[in-house]
Amino acid sequence: MDFEPTRNLALELVRVTEAAALMAGRFMGRGDKAAADHSAVEAMRLVLNSIQMNAIVVIGEGEKDNAPMLFNGERVGTGSGAEMDIAVDPIDGTRPLAHGTYNAISTVAVAPRGTMFNPGPFVYMDKIAVGPAAKGKINIEAPVADNLKAIAKASGKTVEDLTAIILDRPRHAQLIAEVRRNGVRIRLIPDGDVAGALMTAWPDSGIDVLFGIGGTPEGVLAACALRAMGGEIQGKLFARNEGELRRGREMGYDFEKILTMDDLVSTEDVFFAATGITEGELLHGVKYFGKGARTDSLVVRGLTGTVRQIVATHRWDKLSQLSAIKYQDLTPD
Ligand code: FBP
Repeated sequence: MDFEPTRNLALELVRVTEAAALMAGRFMGRGDKAAADHSAVEAMRLVLNSIQMNAIVVIGEGEKDNAPMLFNGERVGTGSGAEMDIAVDPIDGTRPLAHGTYNAISTVAVAPRGTMFNPGPFVYMDKIAVGPAAKGKINIEAPVADNLKAIAKASGKTVEDLTAIILDRPRHAQLIAEVRRNGVRIRLIPDGDVAGALMTAWPDSGIDVLFGIGGTPEGVLAACALRAMGGEIQGKLFARNEGELRRGREMGYDFEKILTMDDLVSTEDVFFAATGITEGELLHGVKYFGKGARTDSLVVRGLTGTVRQIVATHRWDKLSQLSAIKYQDLTPD
């Protein structure tokens, strides 16, 4: 049977994350999270609406941060074409961006309508993520030591060879102590657990596992990317207090349920793109050079498992004639 090549939406989505990163990158170290978010969201929305698809935002940002979000339920795309779910995180790492530190990225994922987990208002999720070697060997409910042993065995390493990545938060004090007790090296990150999860599937990063509680939107985005990259993430919704737990139960959410890859995104037919905003292990940050800028992106397609790295050079003289986005206007509104 002959198969024709089909559309790789991720190659269009990368223009979305590039636009958001080009705008957000202007705010590096300027201490203004809201302005950075605003410009990334506006750029993202504008480019998304040029893509032929009929998408509904399932994972927007803002529930937790009151960000000027691409809000949940918002329709994006031209409105014609395939019916899709979309998850966006215009800036994962608004704080590192505002402080001018590492690993702020812009991400977006798209999959057919009804396939993405909808976390409703529940913003936190406990997570464990690994790369291809340890796929199928983890269990979020197992003791940390058991997971570490399983990951080491599957990777042909000793437990002491492993490096775990964990968000540096007081809520992780016990987790960090436990990982340390097992002699495992730790990369404590101030923010950015989408990049953290992706690093587990990125051979050069030296990261073997991500543990800990982070954003639910970030968990769904990471699941979309790890589907194609051959890794695995498991999650469990995490309630911040009794009230949240009660509300979740009333709404039909199960905080005890292990959210598998299939729960988080129930299809291989997923598209993911990410662009570096500030410098990081996974992606370089935006470099501006007067007449333009350079971006570094990852483009991932679940069906084929193809992972592309795209370095793009953007020219202001050409773009200013075509694009409504003011890439050179440095003055925030
Ligand atoms: P934002 O930049 O989108 O706010 O997210 C940063 C982040 O570090 C995520 O990567 C992570 O999932 C989440 O925040 C953790 O939440 P908190 O900062 O509340 O612990």
